[in-house]
Amino acid sequence: MKIAIASDHTGVELKSEIIKYLQELGHETDDFGTNSKESIDYPIYGKKVADEVAKGKYDGGVLICGTGIGISLAANKVKGIRAAVCSEPYSAKLSKQHNNSNIIAFGARVVGVDLAKMIVKEWIEAKFEGGRHSKRVDLISKIENGEKII
Ligand code: RB5
Repeated sequence: MKIAIASDHTGVELKSEIIKYLQELGHETDDFGTNSKESIDYPIYGKKVADEVAKGKYDGGVLICGTGIGISLAANKVKGIRAAVCSEPYSAKLSKQHNNSNIIAFGARVVGVDLAKMIVKEWIEAKFEGGRHSKRVDLISKIENGEKII
């Protein structure tokens, strides 16, 4: 798979580990920064990856900030993005199988390297199950488009 990845300053080291790991698993990665520990604003990096994924240039995205929350909130403002912030592999897998998440996010201050690798592996290997879940994901898109759902 082709994966776009970014982090804020808190996630720079974890991002490098995840890039190495994804490449070992045979995936292609593009790093959208940041690459220094100088304090920056996570929405900028969340948007960079979200834009690329929304344009269909990548199969998915990985985002890291201190908690995974801020950067996923920013990514989720981009139309077509379903960024799931997960601190364990079970939710990561279900976020793909049931919610068709196209970005996985986690916190460098929350998870260690080994747990982050497990989260990414479960997420990347999971497939959207469709069926009853399609209707629900479609309802999310309708909310995004300002359509009436109730
Ligand atoms: C940076 O201090 C921190 O606020 C950021 O990494 C993130 O955790 C925000 O959600």
